[in-house]
Amino acid sequence: MDENQFKDYLSTFTDADKVLSTEIKPTIRINTLKIPKEVFFKTTKLKLKPTFYEFGFYSEDENSSRLGATWEYFLGYLHTQSLSSMLPSLILNPKQGDLILDAAAAPGSKTTHAAMLMQNKGAILANDVKWERASALFANIARLGVINTKVTVRDATKLGILKYFSKAFVDAPCSSLSQPFAYKKFTPNLSYELSKTQIKMLFSAYDSLKPGGELVYSTCTYEKRENEEVVKLLLEKRAGAKLTPVSTELDFSHDSGLSEYGSEFKKVARIYPFHFHSEGFFIAKIKKG
Ligand SMILES: C[S@@+](CC[C@H](N)C(=O)[O-])C[C@H]1O[C@@H](n2cnc3c(N)ncnc32)[C@H](O)[C@@H]1O
Repeated sequence: MDENQFKDYLSTFTDADKVLSTEIKPTIRINTLKIPKEVFFKTTKLKLKPTFYEFGFYSEDENSSRLGATWEYFLGYLHTQSLSSMLPSLILNPKQGDLILDAAAAPGSKTTHAAMLMQNKGAILANDVKWERASALFANIARLGVINTKVTVRDATKLGILKYFSKAFVDAPCSSLSQPFAYKKFTPNLSYELSKTQIKMLFSAYDSLKPGGELVYSTCTYEKRENEEVVKLLLEKRAGAKLTPVSTELDFSHDSGLSEYGSEFKKVARIYPFHFHSEGFFIAKIKKG
């Protein structure tokens, strides 16, 4: 797609001008596994501004692109993570007794956030299909002081694990249309191929849940074929699967799922940059009956 085609495409479901003109602000998550928030603020000189999430902050430093080169990053006191990307963990709401699958975990933003919310209790299986990406996952787990996580390198489209986990993330590989200039590489065929992987991953992770388990499916793309369509297929094919609202204790602004999928899809979230100056995301929460 060229830029005009992308604009036309966005206009079919949202305010394209607003999406394209909104500034994306860099954010960090304070990692309380390494440092209490109050102590962090006594020691850091970074210019940070609060967001709706108590541990998520906008970086107002001129050198925001170099946050990964700060001593706070090196010591694991912070993780550079978009605000939208903090939501899947908040929505999955991991507890200390949970056994969690992160089916596509590298480089580990959601895994390490979940570990922080669990205060390093319970257990996480953080999986990715690529060895080279798993090494970034290892590095982040070590830097951020996560000790409740085991890393595996497997194809999550065929996990073959049944009724084992209490919760799961499927943060799927996607066409990334919310990322700068990703539209240039977008083709319907690419999206179709990705959706085949997404469907298999979602089914495989869903089947690995115990009855009553919960799963958060997320992507950083706007394409319905990779979002609502994937979730709809699971709801049709797995009798016990039900959408539950993506609400958290936090009040974050978002749009519902596309109306053509019916009122049930009011329970999912579409996040556009204009909601809170962060990257676009799609998030759905599914409960296993
Ligand atoms: C959006 S990224 C995940 C980001 C990660 N959840 C985070 O928060 O840092 C998607 C990941 O899916 C992985 N992936 C792609 N196909 C996969 C498969 N068949 N099984 C497992 N992981 C896969 C990619 O290697 C990539 O790391």
